[in-house]
Amino acid sequence: MRVIHLASEVAPFCKTGGLGDVVGALPAALAAADDVQVTTFLPLHRTVREWLGTRDADVRDTGLRVAVPLGGGRITARLLELAPSGGPRTIFVDIPSFFDRPGLYGHGDDGLRYGAFCRAVLLGATPLLGEPPDLVHAHDWQTALAPVYLEARRPPALARTRSVLTIHNLAYQGVMPADLMPLLDLDEGLIRFDIMEFHGGVSFLKGGIVACDAVTTVSPSYASEILTPAFGCHLDAHLRAHAGKLEGIINGLDVLEWDPATQPALPAHFSAGDLAGKAVCRSAVLEEMGLADDPDSPVLGVVSRFTGQKGLDLVCDVIPALVRRGARLLVLGTGEPALEGRFASLAARHPRQVALRVGFDGGLAHRIVAGSDLFLVPSRFEPCGLTQMQAMRYGAVPIVHAVGGLRDTVADPGDERLMQGQGQGFRFEHATAQGLMWAADRALARWRHDRQGWARLVAAVMSQDLSWSRPARAYLDLYRRVLAGS
Ligand code: ADP
Ligand code: GLC
Repeated sequence: MRVIHLASEVAPFCKTGGLGDVVGALPAALAAADDVQVTTFLPLHRTVREWLGTRDADVRDTGLRVAVPLGGGRITARLLELAPSGGPRTIFVDIPSFFDRPGLYGHGDDGLRYGAFCRAVLLGATPLLGEPPDLVHAHDWQTALAPVYLEARRPPALARTRSVLTIHNLAYQGVMPADLMPLLDLDEGLIRFDIMEFHGGVSFLKGGIVACDAVTTVSPSYASEILTPAFGCHLDAHLRAHAGKLEGIINGLDVLEWDPATQPALPAHFSAGDLAGKAVCRSAVLEEMGLADDPDSPVLGVVSRFTGQKGLDLVCDVIPALVRRGARLLVLGTGEPALEGRFASLAARHPRQVALRVGFDGGLAHRIVAGSDLFLVPSRFEPCGLTQMQAMRYGAVPIVHAVGGLRDTVADPGDERLMQGQGQGFRFEHATAQGLMWAADRALARWRHDRQGWARLVAAVMSQDLSWSRPARAYLDLYRRVLAGS
């Protein structure tokens, strides 16, 4: 089976969140699980070019040039390839006028940029692979036009090619002005309420949902939630109309990267059977972030994009209470200035117990997670969430709002059973400061007063199989069903 993945971000080349992690890891897991040839396409963003340059990566020009119909003319895309390392192939689509720019998103012409990327991949895939792909797997709105082009402008070679679209976050839909359609070489007939029209514009994601053969999202709970007005981001009725081809597949974790026994960014290593290194990591990251070491004061970690989705205003609300209870907080994130400001003033008010780093720093993310006893993920909605899994893998017990993928990955059977090593963490049902504090108080009491039970819980969460092997099998099963036309 020949499968191509298209995404706007792919770790380690570029990443702003979990999408990059997923598309960085899933292709290799698919290829390992079965006789599947996987090729991943991503735009040659300036940051990708810089990443490749600083590592002196072996990238070759495939010699393939794709003429992409756009704006009534054509633009040229070059296909570059990372030197094969035995795993899936990685192809960089080089359209300098669109992608040799700072940042990945937020440019006024994002619709044209990602539309051109999708078209270039569909036109270039067959010459590149030597044979047409059987399946096109697109991720999020940036590549949702791939299934649309496959239906509306199907290259003859792709007559039998089918498509899957994964929604990593319905809050981002790629809503563009409707007058973009002719520039994208798409018929205005697609601007219909049941196809792409969205409040007078066009929605790439909406169109992708109609055009693809199967829609997935990244947890079973989120797959149900997005069919309701509360979580549907104004697409719930549209999704209900296509619910027959929607399913949820929980993400895996890149367990080679998130391995506390080997991760190079950590000052010491540890495992479920030997936690001595975790204590070293804890002291080191407290020092790195300017807090004193104190074995009797629990360390709570937060690593997150600072957006409304993540419920971090609730963390800010409860920081004074957590500080009164003697806890310390390590916070890493960047995003909305109002949240950055709130965390900064809380850190200034409680300099001995709250430390903040504003920015995106992969190494520090590893060190904070490894050094934390507890990890906070109070998201208002969460399609899957990877940080709670990263926390579990590093022996930091998660405290989560029971929503989406957080509900599916963190079972909370109650304090007694948690202390016997059953379940994964502390959940709260209502996204309020009281809800979060109720769960935090349960966790802090157990951490302080039942160290043996706590050790059983930590060993249990660290020993789970969080790898991609199970999700990869679920995707392969889906691919087979799609290709069989059922
Ligand atoms: P989302 O994709 O909604 O941001 P996920 O939990 O799926 O949420 O994935 C977030 C990913 O980004 C995780 O790998 C997390 O460790 C990482 N991350 C988030 N914020 C930062 C940051 N400030 N610095 C480094 N890594 C971060
Ligand atoms: C999105 C979601 C997050 C998910 C990630 C990877 O960014 O917000 O919940 O884990 O995609 O699928």
